[in-house]
Amino acid sequence: MTVTDKWVASVRYRSNHLLLLDQQQLPHNTVYLNVTTIEHVWDAISKLKVRGAPAIGIAAAYGLTLWSNAEKETDLNTFLEKLKKQRDYLASSRPTAVNLFWAIDRVTAAAQSASSVAEAKLRIEQEAQNIQAEDEEICRKIGEYALSLLQDGDSVMTICNAGAIATSKYGTALAPFHLAKEKGWNLSVYANETRPVLQGSRLTAWELQSNDIDVTLITDNMAAHTLKTKNIKAVIVGCDRVAANGDTANKIGTFGLALQAKALNIPFYVACPLSTLDLNTKSGDDIPIEERPEEEVTHINGVRIAPKGIKVFNPAFDVTPADYISAIITEKGVVEGNYIESLSQLKEEETN
Ligand code: MRU
Repeated sequence: MTVTDKWVASVRYRSNHLLLLDQQQLPHNTVYLNVTTIEHVWDAISKLKVRGAPAIGIAAAYGLTLWSNAEKETDLNTFLEKLKKQRDYLASSRPTAVNLFWAIDRVTAAAQSASSVAEAKLRIEQEAQNIQAEDEEICRKIGEYALSLLQDGDSVMTICNAGAIATSKYGTALAPFHLAKEKGWNLSVYANETRPVLQGSRLTAWELQSNDIDVTLITDNMAAHTLKTKNIKAVIVGCDRVAANGDTANKIGTFGLALQAKALNIPFYVACPLSTLDLNTKSGDDIPIEERPEEEVTHINGVRIAPKGIKVFNPAFDVTPADYISAIITEKGVVEGNYIESLSQLKEEETN
C-alpha cells in the first residue's frame, strides 16, 4: 500500500493485520507493509522497518494481538503459558529500547485476570490499542513541556529520529516542532544525518520537510561547528532507555552531542515518555547496548565503502551520563537536578 498523506502513522491496526510503515524505504517510498503474523512483527522490528522506542513497543503489542487472535488454544492456562512464550520471542527482537519490554509485559499482564480465552484475547487487543492511543497524548504533552523551554525563532539541534513516525503521533524530541507549527512559531531544526543508518537524513529531514518545518541537514561531524556558529539555543534528543539515575541510552552519537553542548554551554534536553524510564536499571552501565551488522558501516545502499576484511565496531546506541543532561522532559513535567529522586517520584505518580 502506498500513501501520499503528509501526516503518516507508523503503525495502523486492522483486527487481523497490521499496516507498518516501512521506514527502511523512506524517504524514497512511503509504503505500508501488510503484516499478519508475530514473526513478521519480529522481523520488522529487528530490521528497523519499524523503529523508535515507542513505535517498537506499539508494534510489539500488536504482534502479540495478531498471535492471540489467530491462536486456536481453548484452555485458558495453556493459552496464557503460550502467551508468555510469544512475549519472550518478541523480547529477543532488539535489546536496548525498554518500551519493547514495557509494552509486551503490559499486554501479557492484561490477559492474566481473564476468565476465558475469549476474554484474554479481547484484553490483549484492548491493551495494545490503549498503548497506542495513550502514546499520542503523552507525546503531545512532552511537546508542550519542551516548547516551554524554547522561544519563537530559536534554532535547535537533534539527532536520529524521535519523531511522529517513531511514536503514535507528534514524536518526543520532534513534538515541540510539530506543535510550534500549529502555534504559528518559527523554529529551525538542525538534523544530524545519524550514521550509519541515517535516521536523521532519511527520516527526520523527510518528516520535518513534509510538515513544512524549517530543517537543515548536517553530517554528524559538522555538529560542533554548527553548534558554535549557528546560534543553536538547545539540543533535544529522544531516548531508548533512561536509567533510574538519569543516564540515557539513545542513538549512537548522542553522547558526543552532549559533550559538545556542555563545552559550548548549550542546554541538552532528553525527551522521555515515562514508558522509556526503567527504574529497574540503576545506571547507564547496566543498559544493554545493541551491536548491529557490520554491513551498516562498510556499505551504503549496498555499495561497499571500506576494504573487505576490515574490523568493524557498530554499536547502535550510546549512554549519555546524567551529568551532561540539562533536563529530562516527560509527559508529567520537566525534571532537572536530582534525577534519582524526581524520576522515581514521577513513575510513582504514573502508577497511582
Ligand atoms: O535504532 P532506532 O532507529 O530504533 O533508534 C531510535 C532512537 O534512538 C530514538 O531517538 C529513540 O528510540 C526515541 S524515538 C521517540
